Parts: sequence; C-alpha cells; structure tokens
Amino acid sequence: MSEPKKHIVIAIDGPSGTGKSTTAKLLSKNLGITYLDTGAMYRAITFAAMGAGVVPSDNKAILKILNETTIGFDSENHVLVNGVSRETAIRSPEVSAQVSFYSAVPEVRSALTAKQREIGNKHSCVLDGRDIGTVVFPNATFKFFLITDIKVRAARRHAELLQTGKTVTIEEVEANLLLRDSIDSSRELAPLIKAPDAIEIDTTQLSIQQQVKKIQAIVSVVA
Ligand code: DC
Repeated sequence: MSEPKKHIVIAIDGPSGTGKSTTAKLLSKNLGITYLDTGAMYRAITFAAMGAGVVPSDNKAILKILNETTIGFDSENHVLVNGVSRETAIRSPEVSAQVSFYSAVPEVRSALTAKQREIGNKHSCVLDGRDIGTVVFPNATFKFFLITDIKVRAARRHAELLQTGKTVTIEEVEANLLLRDSIDSSRELAPLIKAPDAIEIDTTQLSIQQQVKKIQAIVSVVA
C-alpha cells in the first residue's frame, strides 16, 4: 500500500508481550508509513546508563547520558546506540529488569517524548509504547490498547528470548512482566493506562496476522 496522503498517527499502547511491536511493524509496512518502537528508545537509554554505571536517581549523570547518547534505527528497525547495533543487548534480561526504573525518571521521559513527537509530527507514523495515546500524541488519528492473558504474554516473550540464545525460565519472564506492569502502571508520570478513547483489543486468542487485520480494517477507512 502506498503512503496515505493525509498525515496520520497511530498509537498502539499496552503492556509488554501483547504483540504491540510486531503488530505495529507489520501495520506500518502495509500502510507504507514509519514505525517507531518507543520501548526500544527507553531500553537504549537504560543500556547506555547501565553501561556507564549511572543509576536512575543520579539526575545530573542521567542528563549527561541523554545529551551524549544518540538513538537511531537501521533499515530493519534494529536499534542503534551511538551508531552501533544493540538490538540484542537492549532486550537482554538485565536491561528488561532495569528499564522500568529508568523510564520513570522525568528527564528521560521528557527527552524521549520530545524525540517521539518530532518524528511523529514529521512523518505519518505507527508508534507503540505505554503513553502514546495519553501523553505523546493525545490527538492521534487512531488509538489502540492491546491486552493479553499473562500466561500467553510470558510464553511469547520466553520464546523470543530463547531464540536469541538466552537461558531464562518462563517463570522468570512472567515475574519480570508482572513487575514491569506494576511499575509502569503506578508511576507518577505518563503511567501505562488506556486512553479513554482508545480501542481495546484482546490479543489472547489472536495470531499476529489477525491482530494486524483487525487494526488495519479500522485504519483503512481513513488511510
Ligand atoms: O515495549 P517494551 O517492553 O520494549 O518497553 C520497555 C519498557 O520501556 C517498559 O517496561 C516501559 C518503558 N516504556 C515507557 O515507559 N513508555 C513507552 N512509551 C514505551 C516503553
């Protein structure tokens, strides 16, 4: 499909493991528009801060990390941190265990929110994250909120990690997902909540293709 003439922003929010990223990626490809994985941006900053030994409470050092770290994406949407591909490293269990703490830092949120708005204002875009429909683009053309049974989410994430050669148990993955949900939903700034005008989709019984089809059927009316 060629790029829609009208500028559109599609927000896909929800907890980890609901299939947001895969759905957003395929949808953007089908619509011929940009895809922005905002979780990867939070992971990239977490990776950079951890590598420099900077803890979330050290505001001054966090600001330095934000100023000195460039986040990019290659043609396959793999994350580049300071020009180096870090796709596997940013999704490691170590980064996953810490990312919610760095994501709750106000300086991190305002810097990354500004970058996300800059990209979404320039290009028609599908963005997936936690606060896209509530904070980053409250006037998004379309808002979706994905939910999935925790057991299914844990199984999906576990399979992804095994593919990258990580040895982690399904129980550990489930515990990390639940902990992140709890921190992401209860933080003061931009918590993970469904925007009142978002369309909720339960993906527990859906394949990725079915999820994409469902969303695309709604979006196609405009795009
Ligand atoms: O989508 P993900 O699991 O890769 O996201 C990693 C973390 O980043 C998630 O636990 C919370 C944070 N995040 C956020 O706070 N806001 C976003 N828009 C996207 C992700």
